[in-house]
Amino acid sequence: MPRREESASYRTLGWVGDEQTGHLRLIDQTRLPTEFIEIDCRDVPTVWEAIKLLRVRGAPAIGVAAGYGAVIGARSQGVKDEGTVRKALAEATAYLRTSRPTAVNLFWALDRMDAAAAATPPSNGPALLKRLLHEADAIAEEDRAMCRSIGKFGAELVQAGEGILTHCNAGGLATADYGTALAVIFSAQEQGKHVHVFADETRPLLQGARLTAWELQRRGVPVTLICDNMAAQVMKERKIQKVVVGADRIAANGDAANKIGTYGVALLAKAHGIPFYVAAPSSTFDLSIADGSAIPIEQRDPQEVTHGFGRQTAPAGVSVYNPAFDVTPAELISGIITEKGVIRPVNAGTIREVLAG
Ligand code: MRU
Repeated sequence: MPRREESASYRTLGWVGDEQTGHLRLIDQTRLPTEFIEIDCRDVPTVWEAIKLLRVRGAPAIGVAAGYGAVIGARSQGVKDEGTVRKALAEATAYLRTSRPTAVNLFWALDRMDAAAAATPPSNGPALLKRLLHEADAIAEEDRAMCRSIGKFGAELVQAGEGILTHCNAGGLATADYGTALAVIFSAQEQGKHVHVFADETRPLLQGARLTAWELQRRGVPVTLICDNMAAQVMKERKIQKVVVGADRIAANGDAANKIGTYGVALLAKAHGIPFYVAAPSSTFDLSIADGSAIPIEQRDPQEVTHGFGRQTAPAGVSVYNPAFDVTPAELISGIITEKGVIRPVNAGTIREVLAG
């Protein structure tokens, strides 16, 4: 039974109860901004579907959901026998890996869950399950801490009174809490540096309009919503002094995949001499790939484009191309704001150096 919001504060997602009988509770983000509804995920297919359909979305939040999904999967065939728990975990993590391809946080979190099981000496099923919930909680807790730290480093780059453009949603709804790109803004605001945010609506699924504008309003940050195709004009009018966006996967050389449209914003920022920053935790880096050409780009249902506003907005049968992400080349990125500091300039060497620190 979905739960409706009762107070002003909210938790994007989290575990409710103990490892044996508890479950993952998350805000169904497909219903925002008009309805605030939480859903309880008690089996792996429900977690998989929540990720696939973007009920929970944003790279770090997907990773956190997957960690808890792995716990749910591990106990799905009984917990008495340890071998059964290990086998069920392996099946669950393999299945959750198929939910979405681009955000590396999903694979990073599932690798952690598999590694936690592998590193747990043979004992018994209930003890292993407890260890797995501990790992999933750690993923969520570390994400909260990383977001706060990103906010702190990013706020140092912000001047009071600036106009800041963001694309998609890289806020508290996209993470365990507080966000990445929006953390920079929240942290600046907490320091008394008030800014004005321009939020791209972010077609086709409108994460900017539905989620970013909602989050900023709730936190009392002044926000102006624009259609994606208005960004150039707003930059030309000198209303934007900085662009800050999130990322779904960053290659070893700094090429960064983020929501479709981000690459265009980066080109516009370059043309107008506006600094373009990416804010992301270390869990979003994929140092196993040399550059952005190897980042898998999710292709989504054409219906998202043809029926974008709850009704048919294109002729039946029209051919549609719907990549969910694009890759911004490192040379267009002024800096990457991580929980360990700001990587600037962006190249393979500075990335390795800052992440190692
Ligand atoms: O398809 P989505 O909504 O999951 O895409 C999300 C984004 O592209 C975010 O900008 C990115 O994950 C960064 S979230 C901190």
